[in-house]
Amino acid sequence: MTLTEPMTPEMTRTEPPTQTEHPRVAVPWWQSAVVYQIYARSFADSNGDGIGDLEGIRSRLHYLHDLGVDAVWLTPCYPSPQRDHGYDVADYFAIEPDYGDLESFDRLVSDARALGIRVLMDVVPNHCSSQHPWFQQALADRPGSRARARFYFRDGKGENGNEPPNNWLAWFGGPAWSRIVEPDGSPGQWYLHLFTPWQPDLNWDNDDVAEQFDDMLTFWFDRGVEGFRVDAVSVVGKTPGLPDTPPPPPDARVTDRALHNPHVQFRPEGHAPWLRWRRLTDAYTAAHPDRPVFFVAEAYSPGRPDRVLEYLRGDKFHQVFSFDLLLAQWTSEQFHQAITDSINELASQHVPLVWTLNNHDAQRSVTRYGRDDATDPARFSGNNLINSDSPVDLGLGTRRARAAALLMLALPGAAYLYQGEELGLHEHLTIPPEARQDPIFIATDGDELGRDGCRVPMPWTTTDDGSYGFSPPGAASPPWLPQPHGWGASSAEAAAADPGSVLTMYRGAIATRRELLGAVAAAEFGFIDTPPGMVGFRNGPVAVFVNFMAEAMAIPAGHGTRVVLTSLGGHTDASVLPGDTAIWLA
Ligand code: BGC
Repeated sequence: MTLTEPMTPEMTRTEPPTQTEHPRVAVPWWQSAVVYQIYARSFADSNGDGIGDLEGIRSRLHYLHDLGVDAVWLTPCYPSPQRDHGYDVADYFAIEPDYGDLESFDRLVSDARALGIRVLMDVVPNHCSSQHPWFQQALADRPGSRARARFYFRDGKGENGNEPPNNWLAWFGGPAWSRIVEPDGSPGQWYLHLFTPWQPDLNWDNDDVAEQFDDMLTFWFDRGVEGFRVDAVSVVGKTPGLPDTPPPPPDARVTDRALHNPHVQFRPEGHAPWLRWRRLTDAYTAAHPDRPVFFVAEAYSPGRPDRVLEYLRGDKFHQVFSFDLLLAQWTSEQFHQAITDSINELASQHVPLVWTLNNHDAQRSVTRYGRDDATDPARFSGNNLINSDSPVDLGLGTRRARAAALLMLALPGAAYLYQGEELGLHEHLTIPPEARQDPIFIATDGDELGRDGCRVPMPWTTTDDGSYGFSPPGAASPPWLPQPHGWGASSAEAAAADPGSVLTMYRGAIATRRELLGAVAAAEFGFIDTPPGMVGFRNGPVAVFVNFMAEAMAIPAGHGTRVVLTSLGGHTDASVLPGDTAIWLA
């Protein structure tokens, strides 16, 4: 089988390919990396203000080194009014004062590099903060000015322009347009914001915009950044003329409604920036061959990997997340499908895969898989990562999340972890309403809980000192989001001392992955025939089986007798797999 023949579930292979069929080639480090996402605000607070910061991250680098990750991805740490916690950038060339400054950033990059950990940042191209000097200038200037042309300013419709220019809705609730007051005090034009009103959309047809981002990327590459996660790429580019959209289904949740607008998603008009960025990184890498800089793009497209592929084809992004795994319920069918779709579409085009099970926008996997509705497709809408409210069994969820992690870490390509996943942290579901800060919660009047529950500050120590070691002793302020009662039991300190902990499993799996899989190419992957309820595949020298059912199942014979890893501590039998468990055989 060659890479250009899509692999289907029927075309399974039970033996690994030989070296002559698929010779190993040197690949850039990021293609098979384990990357750890740091939610900067919640990782570690060095100065006691209750907010995570860069010095805090620096003080915990040894923890990340011991975990074995290749790189960290920092969520946006640029100056920001924090209306969407950093995804509203007010200055692309500096560090948020709550997090540090450029000197602390340089120290972090240098110390991380000394430990073999690379630093990736987050770039937000679709919008900036309404506090960005450009937007402030646009408010101060006249309609038709150069400053307004960097955004989507339009006259309103109806009498006196009192109605928005079209019927688009914002992702986090309400209309996607807000009206400004002109400098002379009269009711003015409207501007487009697909997320919150504090995040005006940038107009990528404008050269100023494109040039600013060229400068920004180069600025951070020159400071030692080795790549960027690119935010919300699928909404860059809008249908020319900004026509009305057909209304969303009446029962669609607020955060799902904008998904139904075809004029703001996956637009062909939105691809020019990525071609430009690729030329920029190619030139940068050519000039610095020891530092192959790259992009990994965020583009959610459940069940439609063909749309994701458009962001890779023809020299655009280097990688795009395969989110179908993260969106899957705990069923063998959905996991099998998620892997199949990504492998067929992406790997068949020689594109490296990027897997993830958790991030700062999704309910934590331990909670997702522990829900009553986790295995019931009839009770799942495919995109309700943050909204299910069915009862949770955390023990069961943890067991399944462990198995899912072992599955992901055995897949070909890169794996992105989200901080705290390696501790088995669960979603904090009972944050009091007055403490919640996610704009989704605020804009929906609490109808949707939003994402605060997965962003709670990390527990580092077992002792309840007010922050479980997140802030230093005697901190002036409590953690910016309250931690759940008993969070210390899930702390890094508790986990490090426990050979059966989730942390111990992740450390072992990452080390074993590096040793056995190294830079295994996608071509060495093949599904193994398994009974319903089980997923099996081979990647290079390792055969992996996951039992998605509650009852134990026999492992198909002939795929290895040595148990390399299991998600269930103490299980050593290569012929049988207990329920909700994963195993690696060699
Ligand atoms: C980020 C979110 C953010 C949104 C707007 C996303 O996809 O991951 O956290 O709220 O983009 O920037």
